[in-house]
Amino acid sequence: MVKTESLTFEENTVTLSDSERGLRAAAALLNAGGLVAFPTETVYGLGADARSDRAVAAIFAAKGRPAYNPLIVHVADRDAAERIGVFSDEARLLAERFWPGPLTLVVPRRPDAMIAGPATAGLPTVALRVPGHPLARRLLTVFGAPLAAPSANLSGKVSATTAAHVRDGLGGRIAAVIDGGACPLGLESTIIGLSADDAPTLLRPGGLPVEAIEHVLGRTLAQARGREVTAPGQLASHYAPRAPLRLEAAIPAPDEIWIGFGGEHVPAGLNLSPRADLAEAAAQLFGLLREADRLASERGAAGIAVAPIPRTGLGLAIDNQLGRAAAPRP
Ligand code: TXA
Ligand code: MG
Repeated sequence: MVKTESLTFEENTVTLSDSERGLRAAAALLNAGGLVAFPTETVYGLGADARSDRAVAAIFAAKGRPAYNPLIVHVADRDAAERIGVFSDEARLLAERFWPGPLTLVVPRRPDAMIAGPATAGLPTVALRVPGHPLARRLLTVFGAPLAAPSANLSGKVSATTAAHVRDGLGGRIAAVIDGGACPLGLESTIIGLSADDAPTLLRPGGLPVEAIEHVLGRTLAQARGREVTAPGQLASHYAPRAPLRLEAAIPAPDEIWIGFGGEHVPAGLNLSPRADLAEAAAQLFGLLREADRLASERGAAGIAVAPIPRTGLGLAIDNQLGRAAAPRP
């Protein structure tokens, strides 16, 4: 490892500090078509210049992501978003109320949008988000253009909530990661589909509780489940650790690694939140899945057992992510 004032080199992937120099170096790498991972309030994103076919294609290659699975385009503000997508009144309402923040809006793509085709996987729609993390916002400002950014993990694996997680999965495959510490929310953004004709649809539960969105819209969200898959990442096995996962376990089997929730009547082991706090559980989720996976292989355990999580507020997103982590693998 080589260390200079603002950067560290590791397996050809540079770790940049959150200083102005670090951000300028990140912007320079992005301008050259490089991939730079950066923290957001949800999870680390793997950024590329959203206007460049070549840079966006490199994201799919680095992650091993199928080309049919479109990316979220991150922008600095709502004006930038409206230059890329067509916003209905309800889309604008949600953007005004929740951006910057953990909400992604899938809206019709403007024909004149300066976005590389592979970013939207050829769909007539585009996923847009204004992230709230100060470092993500500074990077977007310094770079001065939209960043296509999926979660910074290998396709199908657990999302990254620290720079070390990013290096674990993508070290040597990407130009750089900006180290901004742990992501405060720890869950991906909530994705809402807003086409011209359909009712607003929940495409993925995430860090913004569904209840808050329904409150602002004054109506219930339609559910994507059972409909045609519009978010390809949404139903397949995803966020998967290596060890098999058993959900809603009252108690672990002797040969299982335990992830508890709440403090009562549970065996010792890892715990998402001893005081049964869903925000704490969300922030811990991906890190504990990684830790449980490590323990499982170290101890030759049969699998990972996870305690029941209430399906309200952030619990809905935690439950959804666990469900995909436990889904049968292709
Ligand atoms: O919090 C987040 O959303 C993080 C941070 C980095 O912003 N990003 C993230 O990206 O989770 P990713 O690629 O892991 O998940 C994006 C999801 C995928 O399931 C993709 O299928 C869906 O968004 N998506 C993207 N564009 C879409 C579109 N036009 N229509 C439907 N779904 C779309
Ligand atoms: Mg992802």
